[in-house]
Amino acid sequence: MTVTTAAISIRTLDAAEAEARLAELFDILVEAVALGASVNFLAGFSRDGALAFWRNQLPGIASGERQLFVADDGERLVATALLMFAQQPNQPHRAEVGKMLVRASERRHGLGRRLLEAVEQAAREAGRTLLMLDTETGSAGDRLYRSCGWTDYGRVPGHAFRPEGRLAETTFFYKQLA
Ligand SMILES: CC(C)(COP(=O)(O)OP(=O)(O)OC[C@H]1O[C@@H](n2cnc3c(N)ncnc32)[C@H](O)[C@@H]1OP(=O)(O)O)[C@@H](O)C(=O)NCCC(=O)NCCS
Repeated sequence: MTVTTAAISIRTLDAAEAEARLAELFDILVEAVALGASVNFLAGFSRDGALAFWRNQLPGIASGERQLFVADDGERLVATALLMFAQQPNQPHRAEVGKMLVRASERRHGLGRRLLEAVEQAAREAGRTLLMLDTETGSAGDRLYRSCGWTDYGRVPGHAFRPEGRLAETTFFYKQLA
């Protein structure tokens, strides 16, 4: 799937291309954490840890259990998002969104919104009508999801450590797709 507007295209990577571009995926994740994004990692996490995260996604991408969306400026990948299809037999309509990461140089130009729209469209096409995710309360992600019509269904104080080690609140969101 490819959606192209302006110079940056939003598309999915298959497992082979994701493996070939692990270094770029790594760079996006490392930069986000270094700049304070609370996305499951702590500051100073090892190169092996970041590469292992992306490498561990490859079997699921290959099997179709998950899809990896990227923003590609033609020279390098500048953003990522994961769409993960629930595997439980009683949740064939549900999927989770994660690793919504936009390179700092590309933020506030609508890429996050475009990625989310592509993810939602792919979910619809796969028959998934309920999407879920969580993010640090008050973060840029929190604002992005609200602005894209996601519903806040609860908050858990002290849910996750921020990269620098402070416990922070997480907000949980869902979106029902028409
Ligand atoms: C969250 C993130 C993906 C947003 O990506 P982005 O490309 O900058 O988002 P967009 O430009 O599409 O923003 C769309 C809307 O979301 C809201 N928004 C996004 N970032 C915001 C911010 N820092 N402050 C306030 N509102 C923000 C705004 O309403 C914005 O619309 P506007 O620019 O017309 O005001 C990006 O900031 C990022 O990668 N952050 C670090 C990683 C992270 O925390 N990811 C979320 C993990 S769940």
